[in-house]
Amino acid sequence: MKKLRIGIIGTGWIACRHIDAYKQFDDVEIVAAADIVPGKAREFLDHYGCTDADAYETHEELCAREDIDAVSVCTYNSQHAAPAICALEHGKDVLLEKPMCVTMDEARAIREAEARTGHFVTVGFQPRYGANFKKIKEVVDSGVLGQIYYVVVGGGRVMGIPGHTYVQKDKAVVGAVGDIGCYGLDLVMSAMGYPKPQTVSAKLFAHFGETPSKYWDKNQIGKFTVDDDFAAALIRCEGDIVIDYRASWAMHMDTTGDTMFFGTDAGLKVKAPVGCCWDSEAGDLVLIKDDENGVQTQTVIPVEGTEEDEFMFEKKVRAFVDACLGDKIPPIPTSQIIYNQAIIDGIIRSNACGGEVAVDL
Ligand SMILES: NC(=O)c1ccc[n+]([C@@H]2O[C@H](COP(=O)([O-])OP(=O)(O)OC[C@H]3O[C@@H](n4cnc5c(N)ncnc54)[C@H](O)[C@@H]3O)[C@@H](O)[C@H]2O)c1
Repeated sequence: MKKLRIGIIGTGWIACRHIDAYKQFDDVEIVAAADIVPGKAREFLDHYGCTDADAYETHEELCAREDIDAVSVCTYNSQHAAPAICALEHGKDVLLEKPMCVTMDEARAIREAEARTGHFVTVGFQPRYGANFKKIKEVVDSGVLGQIYYVVVGGGRVMGIPGHTYVQKDKAVVGAVGDIGCYGLDLVMSAMGYPKPQTVSAKLFAHFGETPSKYWDKNQIGKFTVDDDFAAALIRCEGDIVIDYRASWAMHMDTTGDTMFFGTDAGLKVKAPVGCCWDSEAGDLVLIKDDENGVQTQTVIPVEGTEEDEFMFEKKVRAFVDACLGDKIPPIPTSQIIYNQAIIDGIIRSNACGGEVAVDL
């Protein structure tokens, strides 16, 4: 059996989920890890029992290893593009954590590197493997909603400013929008087949960055330099679709609201989880339409996802491994996620200029 030889770039918190998943697969071997903090990659590998694997302090050294087939890029947001492009240039396929990157120039450079090298990047949106997500897509794909014209989506936390590298602008670049907001966008955009975004009007808020009760890690107070712990946007897409969007790390509210698809034949409501991040474990799906007498009916669509949702991270990593060993088709391609990135970029630019901006594709 050919084993896929993996390197992990960035050995912080999320890298632990990656290595945990890889270690469950018999056809994968962890060959190396890299972290710019001296000693961190070695400690990480040893902790996970990969004592024969090599540790590096730059992604360039790891990527230069010819015997590595594929990498997970688990660095903070400002360091997504450079390691991903370096890995592609050295003939490796890439599982890149979300958000894809932080600028449209970076997004385009990643796409160009894929085209140039023939290797691929898949972006790490594990909720796609959750039962809730799949059921939403199934309903939308069935055509029962008719033409979708308006979508409301929100995601986030009530008291969940994460701290650490997530609130440092030089490392995260974007706050709640990049951390949590990209999930909600991926949910509704992928359900609708990623319609092309056209314009964005957005506002970022940072009212809670210095509020201790809103943090997970109270030691991070005073380090908040990103622009948003809350964001709101109106996004126009091709096909006369408007998306009304919110993302939160902190708020005096229990929820950013239900996710709703308004269609010409029916509506689909996804009950919001109260008090926590949108993580595909949202509540019931409700289909709302008129019966033959014109009376509105509500039908709950059951989603049985406990086991499926429990393992969605492992499924995302497995899908990457299968693509590397098999058809080389990225499960969550940059051709889609570049639209997600373009919306985030539009949100940042719209906030800066205080008006609506055209999406830069
Ligand atoms: N899919 C998910 O569920 C999920 C969950 C949490 C975080 N994330 C994403 O994962 C990324 C990392 O999050 P985290 O919590 O692990 O952050 P982290 O800050 O704990 O870890 C990032 C690590 O990358 C290292 N690093 C930075 N640049 C590097 C480079 N060029 N080469 C090698 N190492 C480098 C840092 O030293 C650090 O150890 C973020 O982009 C975040 O959005 C995804």
